[in-house]
Amino acid sequence: MKTTLCLLLCLIMVSVAWASESTVNSLRGAVALDAPSVPTSPKEWQDGEGKIMKNYVQQPPLVPHDISDFTINRDGNTCLSCHNWNSEMPGATKIGISHFKNRDGKSLAEISPRRYFCNQCHVMQSNAPSLIKNAFKPLSQEEIR
Ligand code: HEC
Ligand code: HEC
Repeated sequence: MKTTLCLLLCLIMVSVAWASESTVNSLRGAVALDAPSVPTSPKEWQDGEGKIMKNYVQQPPLVPHDISDFTINRDGNTCLSCHNWNSEMPGATKIGISHFKNRDGKSLAEISPRRYFCNQCHVMQSNAPSLIKNAFKPLSQEEIR
């Protein structure tokens, strides 16, 4: 009886040790879950190449310039200094009338609070490689046959 118990205990200990050794492979690699992340390298934001074509009609236009120096907080919104309807910045598209309507469709004199945090919808672009391959790539003619 004693030997069986001892054997069982040994088996459990070995399996626990084996389980703790195998690492979880997540998107950030085989790093222990409680280990700090490796700092990401600064991204090269697409800058000054003109407007970016939309992919679908309702799409909020993508930001064609760097926005890392601009702030949006309780005290102010730097985007508005160039994009507000009355800004004198040449070349910067002025925000349309839709951004001055509240959720009930009522027109406001100032930008609607729901449009205040611009980068909730408008995002800048970097040339970062995709994390995973395109899972929806259409099949080639050979694969269909
Ligand atoms: C210093 C002036 C300036 C500031 C500040 C600025 N922009 Fe722009 N923005 C421009 C100009 C000029 C363009 C036109 C394209 C270009 O020259 O890059 C533009 C283009 C855009 C466009 C594309 C519009 C379209 O019709 O395709 C978006 C979206 C945009 N900016 C969003 C933002 C957001 C969000 C912020 C704040 C985080 C911001 N911008 C701050 C000057 C500015
Ligand atoms: C809730 C999402 C949302 C937020 C927040 C938002 N936008 Fe937009 N924006 C859109 C959509 C959708 C469009 C395209 C349709 C339209 O003009 O309403 C657009 C259009 C624009 C355009 C192009 C207008 C034109 O006539 O082509 C500019 C410039 C712009 N937004 C700037 C801004 C700025 C600056 C802010 C922050 C002060 C902001 N947006 C906040 C969704 C948003």
